[in-house]
Amino acid sequence: MKTDRILVTGGTGYIGSHTVVELQQAGYNVVIIDNLSNSNRDVLDGIERITGIRPDFIEADCTDMNALSDLFNQYPDISGIINFAASKAVGESIEKPILYYRNNLNTLMNLLDLMPQHGVKGIVFSSSCTVYGEPDENPVTEAAPIKVATSPYGNTKQICEEIIHDVVRSGAPIKSVILRYFNPVGAHPSAEIGELPNGVPQNLIPYLTQTAIGIRKELSVFGDDYDTPDGSCIRDFINVVDLAKAHVIAVERMLQDKCIENVETFNLGTGIGLSVKELIAAFERATSVKVPHKIVGRRAGDIEKVWANPQYANDVLGWKATASIDDTMRSAWAWQCKLRERGIM
Ligand code: NAD
Ligand code: WQD
Repeated sequence: MKTDRILVTGGTGYIGSHTVVELQQAGYNVVIIDNLSNSNRDVLDGIERITGIRPDFIEADCTDMNALSDLFNQYPDISGIINFAASKAVGESIEKPILYYRNNLNTLMNLLDLMPQHGVKGIVFSSSCTVYGEPDENPVTEAAPIKVATSPYGNTKQICEEIIHDVVRSGAPIKSVILRYFNPVGAHPSAEIGELPNGVPQNLIPYLTQTAIGIRKELSVFGDDYDTPDGSCIRDFINVVDLAKAHVIAVERMLQDKCIENVETFNLGTGIGLSVKELIAAFERATSVKVPHKIVGRRAGDIEKVWANPQYANDVLGWKATASIDDTMRSAWAWQCKLRERGIM
């Protein structure tokens, strides 16, 4: 067991829970803070079933400075933070911009503010390929221009990245690794944890798996008249466990003073662009389950095509996405079936 403790904000959420598993399996002590606004306590059971360790859990809001201070006082051994806690629904952010700016910005600022006085060395921040908007060329490197955000959610990611740079530039004795995720999909191979969307899913994979199991009548493919080989949009679908592993490496870099710069930014993707139609075909091939679907009009605001050049992460972090899309689709399906088995949906 390592002596370092990692604070994982949003650790009962989708990517956070998978990362807690990898951190614990790498020997880290973990404490989670989550307000359960988009997750639930049962996730802790799933983590415990996989790792044999129940992570410490504090139910509190990261925008509450007093609660955060108490947490740091209670756990003086925290040496690194992974900040997943954020509101993440693009559509909702357009309707409720203040909620998004307040939650996502205040959470980060509170953490950055408290880190130096509690001797916390570094923070990993969950950013997104959304900062690239519709890229001028694919695959996208970290040097690609940041485009004007098309939603308050996307804007929070851009502003949070800038806040980190400003705080570190001001001389704060901390390091940061900014990870720009492409499209995280799939679930832990144990099917003990996975994505638990609230209400009608807005994202492709949960809608697809809910359709395959009969909760939804059919999946709408938003547009097949894009300038892509089959007309549907192209994304870089990255397995959530592969993604989680990158966080352990990022934490280690900060704690072991291996960072080349005080703020480092990495794309986390596979480097493979897959169309929506290709993804449906992959799911059907991998699971032998049919997905009723129809082509409908484009969804407003969608990016036509975006996929990562992950070379920098491959070279510098020594990290590479390894899961096949078929295995990833099988994991998403196993998780959906587990939710049914448990009567959750
Ligand atoms: P998620 O909603 O499953 O997890 C976020 C967790 O944070 C939830 O458990 C929620 O209850 C908690 N939370 C939110 N606000 C909080 C607050 N103020 N205090 C305490 N807890 C709070 O989302 P996810 O998919 O796991 O995403 C994690 C991070 O990665 C987010 O920052 C998200 O913006 C970013 N991201 C996600 C994707 C994606 O497609 N899932 C892509 C790029 C970036
Ligand atoms: C993927 C593709 C849809 C649903 C969003 C955020 C982004 C990032 C990841 C956090 C698109 C198509 C979808 C459906 C469909 N999150 N689709 N039918 O839009 O790439 O990215 O999540 O940072 O910021 O914008 O992901 O899963 O919604 O869509 O045809 O029912 O699937 O049009 O081409 P997206 P998605």
